Amino acid sequence: MSQLITPTQREIFFDPDSFIVSKTDLKGRLTYTNRIFCEIAGYTEKELAGQPHSMIRHPDMPRAVFKVLWDAIQDGREVFAYVKNMARNGDHYWVFAHVTPSYDGNLKVCGYHSNRRVPKRDVVEKVIAPFYAELTRIEASCPNAKEGLAASHRHLMQTATANKASYDEFVFSL
Ligand SMILES: Cc1cc2nc3c(=O)[nH]c(=O)nc-3n(C[C@H](O)[C@H](O)[C@H](O)COP(=O)(O)O)c2cc1C
Repeated sequence: MSQLITPTQREIFFDPDSFIVSKTDLKGRLTYTNRIFCEIAGYTEKELAGQPHSMIRHPDMPRAVFKVLWDAIQDGREVFAYVKNMARNGDHYWVFAHVTPSYDGNLKVCGYHSNRRVPKRDVVEKVIAPFYAELTRIEASCPNAKEGLAASHRHLMQTATANKASYDEFVFSL
């Protein structure tokens, strides 16, 4: 659905004391969204239920960031990421997301869970927004989507691990 929405490049904000929460099934389809998720994204819980999480994807988000996210959770690990999301009317909101696998009673992964809080403003403006713009430029400059993703993912991981840190250490060093 987000492909049909025109981004306004107008930023909206949420309460620094609140968390935007969602849960998904193994394919990333929404199974739960909290009130603040619905309010900021501009959808009802009913409209969101069963939809792919990419419903709130912003076109400025590099595909490589979602690859890092999915690689981690499908490997049973938690992951942290700065994400620019798009509301129903095309406005956007930045979040600092923590995404984890959820386990059932037999310790099998049965879905995923994300809590998001207000990100550090300085980091979004000075580091993440320009870095993500660079990654999307790399993705767009390649002859096809597959090569674009590979090149941008390589650049992301090289930047993140330049000081022998892991991707998570990089995100937390910002
Ligand atoms: C628990 C969970 C939370 C996610 N949160 C977001 C999010 O806030 N915004 C977003 O664009 N994608 C989020 N994703 C990733 C989406 O599933 C999807 O990979 C991404 O939107 C890119 O979609 P596309 O590959 O169809 O372009 C989340 C995935 C999971 C499993």
